[in-house]
Amino acid sequence: MLSGKHILLGITGGIAAYKTTFLIRLLIKAGAKVKVIMTESASSFVSPLTLSTLSKSPVLTDFVNQEDGSISWNNHVELGLWADIMIIAPATANTLSKMANGTCDNLLLATYLSAKCPVYFAPAMDLDMYKHPSTAESFKKLKSFRNIIIPAESGELASGLHGEGRMAEPEAIVEFIQMDLAKGLPLSGKKVLITAGPTHEAIDPVRFLGNRSSGTMGFELAKRAANLGAEVTLVSGPTNLNVNHSRINLIRITSAQEMYDACHLHYNETDVAICAAAVADYRPKHVAEEKMKKKEGDLQIELERNPDILLSLGEKKTNQFLVGFALETENELENAKGKLQRKNLDAIVLNSLKDDGAGFGGNTNKITFIDKNLDIKTFDLKTKSDVASDIWEEITSRIHA
Ligand code: C5P
Repeated sequence: MLSGKHILLGITGGIAAYKTTFLIRLLIKAGAKVKVIMTESASSFVSPLTLSTLSKSPVLTDFVNQEDGSISWNNHVELGLWADIMIIAPATANTLSKMANGTCDNLLLATYLSAKCPVYFAPAMDLDMYKHPSTAESFKKLKSFRNIIIPAESGELASGLHGEGRMAEPEAIVEFIQMDLAKGLPLSGKKVLITAGPTHEAIDPVRFLGNRSSGTMGFELAKRAANLGAEVTLVSGPTNLNVNHSRINLIRITSAQEMYDACHLHYNETDVAICAAAVADYRPKHVAEEKMKKKEGDLQIELERNPDILLSLGEKKTNQFLVGFALETENELENAKGKLQRKNLDAIVLNSLKDDGAGFGGNTNKITFIDKNLDIKTFDLKTKSDVASDIWEEITSRIHA
């Protein structure tokens, strides 16, 4: 959500200013580019050197920079236009009142007035200041300007008093902004369940039956869904992949039975489920407790069927939009349509192993999307990330229809 975003962080003179060092680190970790503007009094609470080191950018305080005999101007209009998001944290009663009244006597306020992007502010002040009618008036005016308040928390204040007015913690500020940005997105408020990767079926403590699935398609589907605003549960078999996204809950499992259990645990509250995992159809009937010793002659391992997770979700389906994958080598369309109907799906994504660059392992895929009305759409060979976007476009157009 914040990846690649330009964030202007305006710091004003409250004791909570020291917490902005953590805030900057979280924003940078989320992939944002951060520029800091501070008021003069803010620099009494936190060092500009610390902030510029963390933000990897010079910290701005004045309209004019005078260094080594040269003079330059900090262009507040350019700064305002550069920003995708502006955060004022901590926002003191003084700065909030000035923002509410159009006062413009420092660089931070001039930039605020120039910014066209969403502006978030995190008030920080003593409890009586927070409750004062003039502060309430500032909040009201700022909300009418479509500025967004990140409410202060209750707790111990710098004065030693206890009450409301403490700036929201940096983690809460980032969480708040991410949730707010997600609100207008097509999957906002939706819960998505995705299976990914292979499953490993134990033969003995060191050996297993598996397959070559990398998990990339499922992980890309999960990332795209989260970026479209969904809360995602990603149930993945053993892969080398990882994902770090505040709206993706990654559950790692090993066997098909564990994947089955994890899926059913979350299915009732799911709005859209996509089974992209390459689940082993069979597992060894008996798992040896000790490592099996080699012997003369051949070895036979008896296999039993694993549960078909997708089929079981189709049988249990109430309001969920359920999507399966079909990896076929022959009679592709007919086989995929058969699965769609037999497993009670809303759509199926077909990839043919006959198409170069499609299916397991690689970073590309070529798919055909078939819905339950047997509307068929074929796509070109694309990166799995672009394929994930195409699949979500097909799904969102159907769940919002
Ligand atoms: O019938 P087939 O195994 O080809 O169907 C593939 C689809 O079914 C994929 O979406 C896969 O994730 C799912 N599947 C499953 N559980 C199994 C086997 C396949 O969920 N045991």
